[in-house]
Amino acid sequence: MSVGILGIGRYVPDRVLTNFDLEKMMDTSDEWIRTRTGIEERRIADDNTDTSDMAYHASVEALEDAGLSAEDIDLIIVATVTPDMAFPSVACLIQDRLGAKRAAAMDLGAACAGFMYGMIVAQQFIENKVYKNILVVGSEKLSKITNWEDRSTAVLFGDGAGAVVMGPVSEGKGILSFELGADGSGAKDLYQDGPYIAMNGREVFKFAVRQMGESAVNVINKAGLTKDDIDLLIPHQANIRIMEASRERLGLEEDKLYKTVHKYGNTSSSSIPLALYDARKEGKMKDGDVVVLVGFGGGLTWGAVALRWGK
Ligand code: UT7
Repeated sequence: MSVGILGIGRYVPDRVLTNFDLEKMMDTSDEWIRTRTGIEERRIADDNTDTSDMAYHASVEALEDAGLSAEDIDLIIVATVTPDMAFPSVACLIQDRLGAKRAAAMDLGAACAGFMYGMIVAQQFIENKVYKNILVVGSEKLSKITNWEDRSTAVLFGDGAGAVVMGPVSEGKGILSFELGADGSGAKDLYQDGPYIAMNGREVFKFAVRQMGESAVNVINKAGLTKDDIDLLIPHQANIRIMEASRERLGLEEDKLYKTVHKYGNTSSSSIPLALYDARKEGKMKDGDVVVLVGFGGGLTWGAVALRWGK
C-alpha cells in the first residue's frame, strides 16, 4: 500500500517581527542576521495563542483540504518541543477541539526533525492497515522558550504550525523511501534545560550540513532514483547556508531548493509542513513530481523522505 499526503493546512501568527525590530531590542543587525542565516522576518504568536491553538487552526485547514471530517481521523500525532503544558499532550487538546472522537492522540519529541518522525510513524500504521487516516502536525511557539537577551539564538526562531492528513494514495505515489536517525551524543549541542533554548551553533551547523546532504542522498538511493529525478528539495528551514550546502551536495539547480526561512525563520517541527504548504500554493509541486523532505534537530535527530507528489 502506498501512503501519502491527502491534505495540508497551516497557521502563522499575524504579528511580524523583522530584523529591524530586533535591532532595537538587542545588539544585532539586519545585515548580520540576513547574511549568516537568510532570515529577514519571523512570526510571533500573541499571549492568547499557544501551540495547541496554532495546531488546531492548521489541522482544520488540512482536514478541509483532504475533504475529510475530524471523525475520519484514527490517530493524531503532534510533533512539538513547546507544548502548552507538560501534559496532557497538544494532540489530546486538539483531539477534543476538533471533535476527532475516534482518534488516538500523542505528542512526539524529536525536536526540529519531529515532523519527519511523525510522518514515518504515521506511514507504518497506514501501511499495515491498522489505521487509515492520520493527522500529523508540527506546531511550535518557540517565542516562549526564546531568551530575548541572547542574540546568538533569539534572532533565529519563529512561531507557526503546519499539518498534513496522511492516508492511502494510488500505487507509486506518496512516500517512496525514508531515513530516520539519531545521535544522542550530541544532546549537549542543542537543548532546553531550564526556561530557554541553549545551542552550540557551530557544532549544530557542521552536523546539519553533513547530515542533511547525506540523508537526502540516502533516500534518493533507497527509492531507486538519482539526483536528476529530484524536482524539489524542501529542507528544514533553519539557515540558508545549511540549506544551500545540501542543495550543492545534491548538485541541484538553485530553483529546486524551496525556501521559507526568510519569512518565518526557524519554526522547528513546523518548518517542513509550512514550507510544503507554501510550495504547493505557489504551484512548485506538480502531480508526479519527486519531492525530498529532510530535517535535523536537537537530539541530535534527523529524518528524510522521498515523496512522489499526488494522490
Ligand atoms: O533547528 C536547528 C537549530 N539550529 C541551527 O540550525 C543552528 C545552526 N547554526 C547556525 O545557524 C549558525 O551557527 C548561527 C547562525 C547560529 C551562527 O552563525 P556563525 O556563522 O556560526 O556565527 P558564530 O556563532 O561563529 O558567531 C560569529 C560572531 C561572533 O562574534 P565574534 O566572537 O566573532 O566577535 C558572535 O558573537 O557573530 C556574533 N554574533 C552576532 N552578531 C550580531 C552572534 N549572534 C549575533 C547576532 N548579531 N545576532
